[in-house]
Amino acid sequence: VQTRALQVELPGGEPVRYQVWVGEGLLARVGDGATRAGWVLVTDTNVGPLYADAVAAALAGSGAALTTIQVAAGEASKVRRTVERIHDQALQAGVSRDWGVVALGGGVVGDLAGFAAATLLRGLPYVQVPTSLLAMVDSSVGGKTGVDTPAGKNLVGAFHQPEAVYADVTTLSTLPDRELIAGLAEVIKYGVILDEQLFVDLDDGLLESCLQRVPDALAAIVNRCVALKAGVVAADEREAGPREILNFGHTVAHGIERATDFGLLHGEAVAVGMVAEARLAERFRGAEAGTSELIASLCRRAGLPVKLPQGVSAARVVEAARADKKVRAGSIRCALPEQIGRMPGHRQAGGIGAGAVAVTEAELAESLASA
Ligand SMILES: NC(=O)c1ccc[n+]([C@@H]2O[C@H](COP(=O)([O-])OP(=O)(O)OC[C@H]3O[C@@H](n4cnc5c(N)ncnc54)[C@H](O)[C@@H]3O)[C@@H](O)[C@H]2O)c1
Ligand SMILES: [Zn+2]
Repeated sequence: VQTRALQVELPGGEPVRYQVWVGEGLLARVGDGATRAGWVLVTDTNVGPLYADAVAAALAGSGAALTTIQVAAGEASKVRRTVERIHDQALQAGVSRDWGVVALGGGVVGDLAGFAAATLLRGLPYVQVPTSLLAMVDSSVGGKTGVDTPAGKNLVGAFHQPEAVYADVTTLSTLPDRELIAGLAEVIKYGVILDEQLFVDLDDGLLESCLQRVPDALAAIVNRCVALKAGVVAADEREAGPREILNFGHTVAHGIERATDFGLLHGEAVAVGMVAEARLAERFRGAEAGTSELIASLCRRAGLPVKLPQGVSAARVVEAARADKKVRAGSIRCALPEQIGRMPGHRQAGGIGAGAVAVTEAELAESLASA
C-alpha cells in the first residue's frame, strides 16, 4: 500500500488546512512534526490494548508528557460524564495550552476526544487516529465532535477540526466483521451520492476485496471516500446545504435506530435507509428506475440488511422519523439521488448536488412498506 496524503481545505474567515494520511504503518508517525509538551491519548477498551502502545511510543519519542485515558468501548461512553472524566484526568496530568489530544479508535472515541479537545482550555489541537472503517471514511474528517444526551444523539458538541488524521488500514485487520460491513454501507453511500465510478468499482469486485480485507482495496476506498467527504465539507462546513447530501439514507436510518432502540448498527440502518429512500426517489421524484435495486444488490453482497427487521413496522419508523424531525424543526427531509453517482442539481452546485428535500409521511411509509 502506498501511503497517500489528502489535503482537507476549509475556506472562510479562518481558513483551515490539514492532512489525512492513508496507508500502512502510520501509527508510528502519529504526532510527527507537532512539537507538543504533552499529549492526552484517548482510546477505548477494545482498541487500547491493541494499538495504544504503538501510538504512545510514537508520541513519547520527542520526550513529551503523556496521559492515556481508556473509556469503555461502545456508544454508551459517548456522554458528558466521560468528557468530564477526560477533562479531569487531563487537568490532573498538568495539561496546558501547548499539549495536544489524540483520538485513537472508532467514531465514538473520535467524537468524544474531539469534543474534549474543543473544550479543554477553550480548545486544544487534536489528532484523529481512526481505527474503524466508519471512522476512516466518515467521522474523522469534517470536524464534527460531540456527545449523546437522553434527548437524542449528538445533541451537544462543537465544530473542531483536527490538525491531522492518520488512517492506518492495517488496524482494520482486527475490526469485527460486522463493524467492517457496517462501514461499507457508508462507502456505498458515497458511490451513490457522488461517485458513480466508485459504485461501479465496488460492483466489479472491489467490494469483495474489501470484505477479504485486502490492504490495497481498503486503502483505495478510504482514499476515495476521504477525498469525497473533504470536497463536500470544503463546500459546506456547517451543513447548510450541500453537506446534507451525506445524509442520504439517514432520515430512515435514524427512524430505524430510534424505533429499534439502536438494535442495528448505524451502517446497517443506513443500508435499509438507502434502499427505502432510493425507492422513494424513484417512485415520487423521478429518479432513474432500478436505482434502489442496484443499491440493494450491492448491500446484500456486502452482507448488509436491505429491509426492516422482523417486528419493526414502517409506521413505527415513520413515527420515529417524525419525532426526530422535531429536533430539527420543519418537515421530514431526505437527500435523494437522481441516479447512481448523482444528486439533483449537481451541476449548479459544482458537481456536489443540492441538499435534502421535504417528503411526506405517506411517501415514506409506502417506500418502507415495500422494503
Ligand atoms: N463526527 C462525525 O462526523 C460522525 C460521522 C459519523 C458517525 N459518527 C459517530 O461515530 C460513532 C460510530 O463510530 P464507529 O462505528 O466507529 O463506532 P465505535 O467507535 O463504537 O467502534 C465500533 C466498535 O469497533 C471497535 N473497534 C474500533 N476499531 C477497532 C479495531 N481496529 N480493532 C478492533 N476493534 C475495533 C470499537 O471498540 C467498538 O466496539 C457514532 O457515535 C456516530 O455518531 C460521527
Ligand atoms: Zn452515517
